[in-house]
Amino acid sequence: MTTNITIIGAGNMGRGIAHVAARAGSAITIVTRTPEEGAALVSELQAAFPHIAVQAATLETPVTGDVVVLATWYTAAQELATQLRDQLAGKVVVDISNPLTADYSGLALSGTTSAAEELARLIPDAHVVKAFNTTFAGTLVAGQVAGLPLDVLIAGDDVAAKTVLMNLVNAGGLRGIDAGPLERARQLEGLGFLGIQLQSSQGTNFASSWKFLN
Ligand SMILES: NC(=O)c1ccc[n+]([C@@H]2O[C@H](COP(=O)([O-])OP(=O)(O)OC[C@H]3O[C@@H](n4cnc5c(N)ncnc54)[C@H](OP(=O)(O)O)[C@@H]3O)[C@@H](O)[C@H]2O)c1
Repeated sequence: MTTNITIIGAGNMGRGIAHVAARAGSAITIVTRTPEEGAALVSELQAAFPHIAVQAATLETPVTGDVVVLATWYTAAQELATQLRDQLAGKVVVDISNPLTADYSGLALSGTTSAAEELARLIPDAHVVKAFNTTFAGTLVAGQVAGLPLDVLIAGDDVAAKTVLMNLVNAGGLRGIDAGPLERARQLEGLGFLGIQLQSSQGTNFASSWKFLN
């Protein structure tokens, strides 16, 4: 089955997730505030994946797709969710954010909530799934680190929504891992933050990944 995926934002993660979706054979819509930014990524994807249907759109265009990825910082994702609430109803909405404080020294949300849970409160009729927040953008494009496929930890309360995303991730050459209900986003966001912190101490320049082995 071909998934129709809409990715809002064409920054580092928008590009990385677009590459995963293209490898999975999804039809892709890239939504940006400025047409130039979307057009550049669409051209890149068309050149690399000529068999894939890729198009650009702006926020004025009605949101299409079964899966909508909010590939922005979490405050922008919250604004977008509020703005697009009716259009997102019934869709799988993917929250990829790590809600960092302004100085990157910690998480602005933690403990009894998470960015994903706050997002879900804003769009109760959508199926919010947490994913990709523990994978760095460049590694999504490469699809692997140290010769092993990336693990994508996926949390959500709607089993069908998680399955849709799991299938897309696996078809894109990565390994989806069900991390449990959306509440697990609290731990995933902590893991995402730790991964960022380790980049400077380990000198890995955002080219590392977490791997669950047994
Ligand atoms: N980078 C990583 O490796 C990584 C890894 C895991 C998770 N994340 C998470 O992924 C998210 C995005 O990170 P990133 O590195 O991709 O950031 P980025 O490169 O700065 O890209 C952010 C994108 O969001 C767009 N945007 C911002 N505000 C918007 C709005 N109100 N409406 C529509 N689009 C808007 C920006 O468009 P404009 O150009 O128009 O501003 C840009 O395309 C963050 O939440 C981050 O925590 C990042």
